[in-house]
Order: sequence, then structure tokens, then C-alpha cells
Amino acid sequence: MSAVSDPWSGLRTLLESSLAREADSAAPLVDELISLVLRRHQFLDPGALRARLEAHCARSWPLLRAARSHGVAELARALDVQLPGFVTLLDEMLAGVPQVVCAEYGPELQLGVLGLALEELREPVLDVGAGRDARLVRALRAAGKDAHALDRDADPALGVRADWLEFDFGTARWGSIVSHLAFSLHFLHQHLRSEHEAGRYAHTYMRMLRALTPGGLLAYAPGLPFIEGHLDPSRHALTRRRLPPDLSEAFQRLDDALAAEVGYAARIVRL
Ligand SMILES: C[S@@+](CC[C@H](N)C(=O)[O-])C[C@H]1O[C@@H](n2cnc3c(N)ncnc32)[C@H](O)[C@@H]1O
Repeated sequence: MSAVSDPWSGLRTLLESSLAREADSAAPLVDELISLVLRRHQFLDPGALRARLEAHCARSWPLLRAARSHGVAELARALDVQLPGFVTLLDEMLAGVPQVVCAEYGPELQLGVLGLALEELREPVLDVGAGRDARLVRALRAAGKDAHALDRDADPALGVRADWLEFDFGTARWGSIVSHLAFSLHFLHQHLRSEHEAGRYAHTYMRMLRALTPGGLLAYAPGLPFIEGHLDPSRHALTRRRLPPDLSEAFQRLDDALAAEVGYAARIVRL
């Protein structure tokens, strides 16, 4: 038993299992740690986290690897020594930032918020920011739908692990693209803080619209009033549906900052 406390529960086990799996490279550990931090604060910049974690691992990983080659007791001792450094670094990454936890939701709740019935989802379906567990994609597949997840944390068995800003959505490829508290939430966040990133989000939004088959549907929540206002009504039909009161209240701060209401689900059909 180690005397070192581990407020990031499971960190010690994660270090041990990473060493056991692939001692030659700390890269898989860095990926796991990034996803651990992003699950507590989803708006942090993954590139900046990676740089700091790689620098830290460049120092501590060789020490852990060498200790492991000297046996179990030596590894336990080295983990006792190294663990506080990892804990401090992870704590620092979240210090001073209000945590924006990255929650995942059940399929009924997601469809309810988006105002979608299972039967109306044309195939193939792409869930953008589906979540690590991709619960909606699992449910759609269980119902016989051709459904795929896109998430930087996705299980490859359920779709693509990629950044949505870099993903090739294709042209006229998807019958439905859905995104519950994911793409549009991040778009709003960037709209309020970084012109450059917001521009990349706007570009990706247009790419998603082009990726719909004729008659295809893009559905997301929260809403994006500042870009929906620019849609050409002869090409795209937009409808809005208010979110349940508790959820729309959660967006009050954004409403105030934008001087526009975002607590609704948007549904856009490509005509
Ligand atoms: C709040 S979770 C919502 C998950 C799911 N839609 C649900 O409602 O259960 C947001 C998801 O967006 C993903 N995400 C955030 N930024 C991303 C990016 N740039 N590219 C791909 N996925 C991203 C996160 O990994 C996370 O799984």
C-alpha cells in the first residue's frame, strides 16, 4: 500500500498499467492524462496540455521505466516519488479555472432535448461530440440504425477518434448529423473568447451543412443565433425548440454575454 495520496483517483494505477503495457513510450499515458483533464474541464486547449505533459513525462518516464526493470519494490518506491509531481501538474492545469465538467447523457434525454424521434433520423447518422461512451450511437445501433460517433475521445469501435475541426465530413454523405451539448457549446465558448477559433468553428459548421444529403438534418443544442441568422432560407429550413427550463437556465450567463437567447435546440433541414 502506498502512503502517497492520490486525489486524482486511479492515477497510480494508470501509471502502473501504462508502464506494463508500453514502457518504451509515454505517449499513450499522455493521451490518457489529457482525456482525464478534459473530462474535468472540457474547454482547455488539448495542445497546451499535451506540451506540458510531454515535458513532464520526458523527465519522469525514464526514471519509472528504469525502476521497473529493477523489480516490483523499486517500482513501488519510484511511484511514491513520482506520483506527487503528476498530481501537482494535473492540479496546476485546473488551478484558477472554473471546472466545466464534460458530462455524458442517456440517449432518451439527448433525443428529447434535440426534439428528435428515432424514426425520423435518416441514415447514416453522425453524432458529433458523441462522448467517450457514445451512448446515443450505441442506442441507435441497437435500434438497427447505421450510426457513427465522432469525438476526440471516441471508442474506435463506435466511430472516429478525431478533432471535429479537422474531420472530413464529406459532401452529401450524412442523412442526419446530431450534436447534443457538444459542437455548438464549444462554438459558443469560442465565439465569446477567440475570433480565430470562432472562425474555424464557423467554417466547420458550414462543412457540416454541406455534408448533409438533400432532405438531411442537422440537429444540435444549444442554439447558435449569430450564425443561423445567415442561413439562406431557400436552401436550409431552420426550426427552433425551447430547451426544458432547467437546461435553458443553465445557459443564462451565455444569453447575457451574447445578448441573445441560446437555450434552444436547432434543427436545420437541407432543402
Ligand atoms: C458534454 S460532452 C457531450 C457528450 C454527448 N454528446 C452527450 O450528450 O452525452 C462533449 C463532448 O465533446 C467532445 N469534444 C470536445 N471538443 C472536441 C473536439 N474539438 N473534437 C471532437 N470532440 C470534441 C468531448 O470529448 C466530449 O465527449
